[in-house]
Amino acid sequence: MKSTILYTSDSFLVEGGKPLRGEVRISGAKNASLPILMASILSEEVCLLNNVPDLLDTKTALELLESLGAKVEFQKGVVKIDPKGIKSFVAPDDVVRRMRASVLAMGPLLARFGRAVVSMPGGCSIGVRSIDQHLKVFERAGAHMEVKHGYINLELKEIKPVEYTFEVITVTGTENAFLLLSKCEKRSILRNIALEPEVIDLVEVLRKMGVQIEIEGRTAIIRGNPYLKGFSHRVIPDRIEAGTFMVAGFLTGGDVILKDVRVEHLGSVIEKLKEAEANIEILDLNSLRVVGKGDIMPLSISTSEYPGFPTDMQAQFMVLCCLAKGISEIRENIFENRFQHVAELQRMGADIHVKDRLAIVKGVERLYGAEVYSTDLRASASLVLAGLVAEGSTLVRDIYHLDRGYERLEEKLKSIGATIERLPQRKP
Ligand code: EPZ
Repeated sequence: MKSTILYTSDSFLVEGGKPLRGEVRISGAKNASLPILMASILSEEVCLLNNVPDLLDTKTALELLESLGAKVEFQKGVVKIDPKGIKSFVAPDDVVRRMRASVLAMGPLLARFGRAVVSMPGGCSIGVRSIDQHLKVFERAGAHMEVKHGYINLELKEIKPVEYTFEVITVTGTENAFLLLSKCEKRSILRNIALEPEVIDLVEVLRKMGVQIEIEGRTAIIRGNPYLKGFSHRVIPDRIEAGTFMVAGFLTGGDVILKDVRVEHLGSVIEKLKEAEANIEILDLNSLRVVGKGDIMPLSISTSEYPGFPTDMQAQFMVLCCLAKGISEIRENIFENRFQHVAELQRMGADIHVKDRLAIVKGVERLYGAEVYSTDLRASASLVLAGLVAEGSTLVRDIYHLDRGYERLEEKLKSIGATIERLPQRKP
């Protein structure tokens, strides 16, 4: 698969004021697809993955697998990987730069080759995002680590069983540990693990490949297998995309039905929307309806690890709070710099005051369309949401960030009545 990835800094032109009405199908989860694609490195057999969203990040992950030597096909949401030909254990800088989640190649490469050379992921705009916990698990498993010329060089003779308690709850740290220990036959114990649905989806795949994993509370017991089978799996729906559309339906005073969701993964988002007095109807385990009527009530939000309120929904809910009847408080406990959407929302007339990790949001009558800049994936989603409800038109620039994590966003929004156009990058 050629690198057909175009780095556009396209823009979205959004007209505000139209209630969203209709039905939208939610795509597969980006953050489940990425670790599961990396799990194919552990096998020599063909791996099939269904419901994979067509995103910059998933295409980058497939490009990484190809650069390692795998054969890859990706058509209509179905990925077929033949990992037999994987020979390299080097994740190149230009790939890792584009996608931090490339760090998820470390665990499987180390398990397969006893070697992994991965470019140090830079920080990113939402925070330092160190990977010290990933590296501590690798060292516990016997890996020797050296950082040279911006690359992490890991080497281990034989994977030792690990008993480790994570010092922070880390999603990809937990996933990297599972991926490495999948090939260690002796029993490992990991404590204080992350329990996000995307982590559990990876666990389901590893079990299909022949890994024994038991999870009780935040403790996992893993017994690996030196020979791991291929797998066939369907990725869970993207709970963050679902939450984003639920906010859009409520925010615009619309009536939106979401299909192909996993209601059980949306507990804290549904609770918060009900607190804001959205009308939520659970239609069945995989579909729900959001009706926005009347006022938005102010909220007190504090992000935390699953099953708590997701940090990836913080920016989207901030837009709701901008138009609530009262004062809201939003505390961001996971990342140290995840309020970059605030300055852009203020340009649209929002009344927000940030002190450290706390944002105080005073509801205003309306937001006004403006030219705004995306800074990170979820912040850019919040700017589109603000544009949908602002007076006049909003130009959201640099939507490369959005293309990383939302599949065909403008198409889906148009299908439920939004006025949104993608403006290609202005030729220099
Ligand atoms: C995952 O990032 C997600 N990405 C993020 O989604 C999500 O925001 C985040 O989890 C939290 O839910 C993927 O799954 C690909 P963490 P991850 O390790 O794993 C600190 C999106 O929008 N930490 O759980 O990188 C870290 O600095 C993206 O789709 C350490 O200190 O997040 C952060 O403050 C954005 N040392 C906190 O833990 C470590 O070794 C949580 O980070 C690892 C993490």
